[in-house]
Amino acid sequence: MHRRLIAPGALAAASLLLAVPASAAAYQPGAPGIGDPYYPYYGNGGYDVSHYDLRLKYQPRTDELEGTATVLATTTQDLSRFDLDFLLDVSEVRVNGAKAAFATSGQHELEITPAAPLRKGTPVTVVVRYRGVPSTKSAYGFTTWHRTPDGAVAADEPEAAWWWFPSNDHPSDKATYDVSVTVPDGTQAISNGTLQSTSSRLGWTRYTWRSRAPQATYLATLAIGRFDVTTGRSEGGVPVVNAYSRNLGDNDGAARASVERTGELVDWLTGYFGPYPFDSVGGYVPDTTTGYALETQTRVYYSPRQFANGSNTSVVVHELAHQWYGDDVSLKGWRDIWINEGFARYAQWLWSEHEGEGTTQELADYVYASHPADDPFWTVAPGDPGPDNQFDIAVYDRGALAVQALRNEVGDDAFFAILKGWPKEHAYGNASVADFRAYAEKVSGKPLDALFDTWLFQPSKPAVSAARTVSL
Ligand code: ARG
Ligand code: ZN
Repeated sequence: MHRRLIAPGALAAASLLLAVPASAAAYQPGAPGIGDPYYPYYGNGGYDVSHYDLRLKYQPRTDELEGTATVLATTTQDLSRFDLDFLLDVSEVRVNGAKAAFATSGQHELEITPAAPLRKGTPVTVVVRYRGVPSTKSAYGFTTWHRTPDGAVAADEPEAAWWWFPSNDHPSDKATYDVSVTVPDGTQAISNGTLQSTSSRLGWTRYTWRSRAPQATYLATLAIGRFDVTTGRSEGGVPVVNAYSRNLGDNDGAARASVERTGELVDWLTGYFGPYPFDSVGGYVPDTTTGYALETQTRVYYSPRQFANGSNTSVVVHELAHQWYGDDVSLKGWRDIWINEGFARYAQWLWSEHEGEGTTQELADYVYASHPADDPFWTVAPGDPGPDNQFDIAVYDRGALAVQALRNEVGDDAFFAILKGWPKEHAYGNASVADFRAYAEKVSGKPLDALFDTWLFQPSKPAVSAARTVSL
């Protein structure tokens, strides 16, 4: 109801009749992007999602995915229309129970026009029925839905959701999830959080997963295939669920020798980052050929290639470090990627030191010395690398070098207080590089603008002394 437009006295009668406001001009379409300068059309304007409920069915033989997404949101402006980001074929949309008009636009926008406009600050329930063959859909010329010989995987960054559920696809809008997927008997469906139930009927098995903590859209994952699932509990009490494709062949031993150490490693990281923020942890290794791993929340995605040369606990440490740096505390915008990758790389350096394979300072010195001043490596500014360099090696290695420089500047006591305090300061929320600097300055009591500028923002090789202010 749009009470502002109703004359006093006519209020009671008019509010019953006035389903559509007298002045439609007050109601505007939500923006097709949430305002991220790197990716203008990612996410959407006008609402904030609190929960995704996905009930899906997948047939590996044909790559057909069908289902219903129920999205709970609250409007943040008066809305005549709003978008979700999505690529599959939609057959029906309902908003607050009533059928809504819909159309596609741009590369991945689903435009929804509700029967009645939506007043700012009201709860909205959006139901989207859909089906499609995800591997046939692309946006900007690519597909991140990966079919495997016995299923498929959705796990990529920054784009993954468009191929399997309609969303407000940006890390700044986190939500809880229930993901329920029906697959042919003998096949598993793996997702984030805890497995609530499985049930079989008529040759199909339903797996229902729940994520109770807020989760960014790119951290939602789905893997379908024939997996061997292992369960346990870390010494520190965190339930562990891992899954291995039955087709890992030569990589099976190395994958298990690495990922089965998840509980031990999550407990070890707790010493640096504080209590593990979620109610489950684990990883899965599907039969994919991609080269990367991804910190999908509570259930890390590993490519078998991570284990092609033997065990690799370092990648497990990296992805588990992201559970605090990236998943618990998520980016405000994609330009803040240093907070994710710089700290996940630094955690690998801490692990290397623990394993007697080089101290963090030795690794920092090594990275520094490996790149001469004219190496393009130094032209990438980890604090604002640009969309094309978001996952450049400099974001990781120069990013971790910046963390070591910070440590040397503020000293170990302040540094480790910052490392552990940050996830607590912004638990289950979002933060930017500027927020991190402000926090580090608050904890250390030191101005850090020059240090951050030198190590994160200048497109040139910093003077070596800056990384070694204490240790030289
Ligand atoms: N955050 C991931 C990691 O560092 C990187 C993912 C890169 N994405 C990609 N599609 N290659 O573990
Ligand atoms: Zn990473």
